[in-house]
Amino acid sequence: MSRNHVRNICCIGAGYVGGPTMAVFADECPDLNVTVLDINPEKISLWNSNDLSELPIFEPGLDKVILRCRNINLFFSTDIEANIANADMIFISVNTPTKTRGIGAGKALDLKWVESCARQIAKFATGHTIVVEKSTLPVRTAEVMKTILNSSNDHSKSKTFSVLSNPEFLAEGCAINDLKNPDRVLIGGEDELAINELANIYLNWVPSSKILRTNIWSSELSKLTANAFLAQRISSINSISALCEKCGANIEEVVDAIGSDTRIGNQFLNSGPGFGGSCFQKDILNLIYIASNYGLDDVANYWQEVLNLNNWQKERISKLIVQNLFGTVTGKRIAILGFAFKANTNDTRESPAIQVCENLLEEGANLAIYDPKVSQESIELALGVKETSVDEFSELSSWVKCNSDVEACIGADAIVVLTNWEQFTNISLNKLYEKMRKPAWLFDTRACIDIDTAKKIGFNTWRIGI
Ligand code: UDX
Ligand code: UDX
Repeated sequence: MSRNHVRNICCIGAGYVGGPTMAVFADECPDLNVTVLDINPEKISLWNSNDLSELPIFEPGLDKVILRCRNINLFFSTDIEANIANADMIFISVNTPTKTRGIGAGKALDLKWVESCARQIAKFATGHTIVVEKSTLPVRTAEVMKTILNSSNDHSKSKTFSVLSNPEFLAEGCAINDLKNPDRVLIGGEDELAINELANIYLNWVPSSKILRTNIWSSELSKLTANAFLAQRISSINSISALCEKCGANIEEVVDAIGSDTRIGNQFLNSGPGFGGSCFQKDILNLIYIASNYGLDDVANYWQEVLNLNNWQKERISKLIVQNLFGTVTGKRIAILGFAFKANTNDTRESPAIQVCENLLEEGANLAIYDPKVSQESIELALGVKETSVDEFSELSSWVKCNSDVEACIGADAIVVLTNWEQFTNISLNKLYEKMRKPAWLFDTRACIDIDTAKKIGFNTWRIGI
C-alpha cells in the first residue's frame, strides 16, 4: 500500500506531556494539522479557554505558543473517533500509573489506558496509521500494541499500522525549551518509512545529528534508564547531604568540587527533600519489576535502594523539624512554602511536600500552605484531607491554603521551604519574622534562602547539607 505524507497528527492525552509537546509540534510545523484529544471534556474546555491563565497546566512560555497556534493548526477536542479516523500519525500520551492491585501491584505499570487507546485506534483508524508511543511504557509494550492493532476485525486490509517508540524527555517547568532545543530525539522502531516520517517532522527544528534511531526495545529501555540515572544522582547527593550535616562538611562546597570534574558534570546535583514528579519513582519501580522478572535480583535491589534513600530523605526531614521544635509540633502552626514537586509547575504528583506535610499532620501540626501555582483542590487531593476553615484552624492536624508567604507565617513557629520557587530566594525575611511566634525556625530543604541574613534577623535555622 502506498503511503501518504503525514499531514494530520493527533495525540491522545492532553496532559503535562501531550499538551506542551503537541503545542510545540504545531508551532514548529505550520504545515501540520495537530489535534490533542482527551476523554476529559473539562480538561479540553480549559485548553480551549480564552483566558490563558485557565490552561489546565502551568508551564512557562506555553501560553504564548497556544496563542500563536490554537485554532490555526492546533486543536483541542474530545472527538476521538473522527480525529483518529483522520490522522496519519497518532501519539499516545496517556497516563500509565503504577498498578495498585493484582500481579506486579506497587511496581508494574498499569497499561489499561494504553490498551484502551490501542483498541480505539484499531477500531476507528483508516488507511495506514503510524502509532507513536510517547507514554513511558514497560519494555516490549510496542509488541502488545501491535497485537491489539492488528487484531482489528477489519479484514479488508484497508487499515495497516506501524508502531514507533518516541519517548519524551521534557522536564516540567522548562518543557517548552526542552521541546524546542532537545538534547536528543529518540525514535525506536523497525519500519524505516515510518521512522523517516517522524524524523522529518522533527527535522523542521531539530538538527539531524540529534535524532537517534534505535531498535524499539532500546528506545523503551532508554527512557527508563535516563530517568533512573537522574533519580540516582539525586539520591546520591541527598545521601551525602545527610553526611555533611553530621561531619561538618558543606554540601554546596562538595557539589562545586565534584561537579567541576567534567566526567561528573555540575547539573542535577542539588540536594533537596527528595525527588518527586510523575516519572522518577514510577519508572524506577518499573525497572525493578522488569529486572526481577528476568531473575536479576541484584539489579532490582540496586535500583530499589535509590527509592529507599529518597523515602528516607523525606522522613528524616520531617523528623528533624519535629525534633528541633522541642520534640513536638502538636497544635503548632507551621508555614509550608511550596507544595509543587519542583519550581515552575502546578504539578504535585509525588511531591516530597506531600510526605512531609502528612508526617507533620500526623504529629498534630496545623499547616499554613502557600504555593504560587498549586490550587487548593490539588492540595486537598494530594493530602486526602479536607482544608479546615480559618475558624477551626486551632484544631489539631489541620491545614489551610494561604494566598501569600506573609499570610502563611502569621503566628507560625516555623517556616519549611519545600519547593525551589525563585520568589522564595528573594523573600522578605524581616517581614515574615515579625509575624511569627518566637523562637522562630526556618527549615530550608532547598538551599534557596539567604541563611546568614535569616540568622542575623533572629531565626533559628536549618539548611540542607550544612
Ligand atoms: C503521561 C504519563 O503519565 C507518562 O508516563 C508519560 O511519560 C507521558 O504521559 P502526563 O502527560 O504527565 O504523563 O499525564 P497526565 O497529565 O495525567 O495526562 C494524561 C491525560 O490522558 C489525562 O488528561 C487523561 O484524561 C488522558 N487520557 C487517559 C485519555 O485521554 N484517554 C485515556 O484512555 C486515558
Ligand atoms: C523528569 C526528567 O528530567 C525528564 O527528562 C523526564 O522526561 C520526566 O522526568 P521532571 O520530573 O519533570 O522530569 O522534573 P526534574 O527536573 O527531572 O525533577 C524531578 C525531581 O527531582 C523534582 O522533585 C526536583 O525538585 C528534583 N531534583 C532535581 C532535585 O532534587 N535535585 C536536582 O538537582 C534536580
